[in-house]
Amino acid sequence: MEKIGIDAGGTLIKIAYEEHGKLHVKTYSIQEKNELLQWLKFISPGAVLHVTGGKNNLIPNLPSQKAHFIDEFQSLLEGTRYLMNIEKQPSKKDYLVVNIGTGTSIFHVAHHKIERLSGSGVSGGTLMGLGSIITGKSTFQELIALAEKGNHENSDLLVRDIYEPNEPPIFWDLTAANFGKVNHHKTSEKADHMAALIQLVGEITISLAGQLALHKNIHKIVFIGSALNGNRPLKNVLSSFQDKLSYKAIFLDKGAYAGAIGALLA
Ligand SMILES: Nc1ncnc2c1ncn2[C@@H]1O[C@H](COP(=O)(O)OP(=O)(O)OP(=O)(O)O)[C@@H](O)[C@H]1O
Ligand SMILES: [Mg+2]
Repeated sequence: MEKIGIDAGGTLIKIAYEEHGKLHVKTYSIQEKNELLQWLKFISPGAVLHVTGGKNNLIPNLPSQKAHFIDEFQSLLEGTRYLMNIEKQPSKKDYLVVNIGTGTSIFHVAHHKIERLSGSGVSGGTLMGLGSIITGKSTFQELIALAEKGNHENSDLLVRDIYEPNEPPIFWDLTAANFGKVNHHKTSEKADHMAALIQLVGEITISLAGQLALHKNIHKIVFIGSALNGNRPLKNVLSSFQDKLSYKAIFLDKGAYAGAIGALLA
């Protein structure tokens, strides 16, 4: 292959390349950088590397394998647009892109322009860090599997918990206080806390993105980033406010690779 797209982020390095007309993707953790460099030498010694992401300096520029830096926001835009087309979600109208990676960034996409509107530090890195403090487990897969078994309502204090038996003035199933039930609902367990942590990350994300969508009169929000990989609980939270905030949530199968694919296409 002539080109390889590389998105080196705060936690994971995502790779995209084409072989025999087919798109391939793979992921390395930052710690596996040396394995990645070996693989790059092995797979295609003469290829040009199109590198994006905050940790692009991890990829060396060698005479045998030239590295070109590609703008991260532009890569995300091009990769997301490409994926929306092949995953049959094309959009002529403006939409928001929410990239939930180590941290979260929120972008407004209009035609060929992308503008970063906002972001949040309550994100994928928070799931890993707070998740491991709460549960003692350290891998992403373990944390998500635990959350799947839990129920956030055992840890979060809901509006209905405060108002019952009265009729609340706002939606009864909204969270009144994240983790607000932990002290007086002693039966809640680690799995419930992990579900509550995902609820927290999802709620912060969607309250920011939802407000921005409202302000910009946008009704489509496209979620990308590796924090969504196999993360059904987080997708559920991000989808659960669609009616209240009038947006349509779109998840792209290869959304974790939007940056790498966009860099490859550049
Ligand atoms: N195998 C994994 N190892 C570690 N984290 C994972 C893994 N799979 C998914 N994740 C989740 O994905 C997040 C990283 O997502 P992503 O790769 O999109 O971010 P990044 O590009 O490394 O960071 P940023 O874009 O913020 O610089 C982690 O914080 C974690 O929540
Ligand atoms: Mg990233």
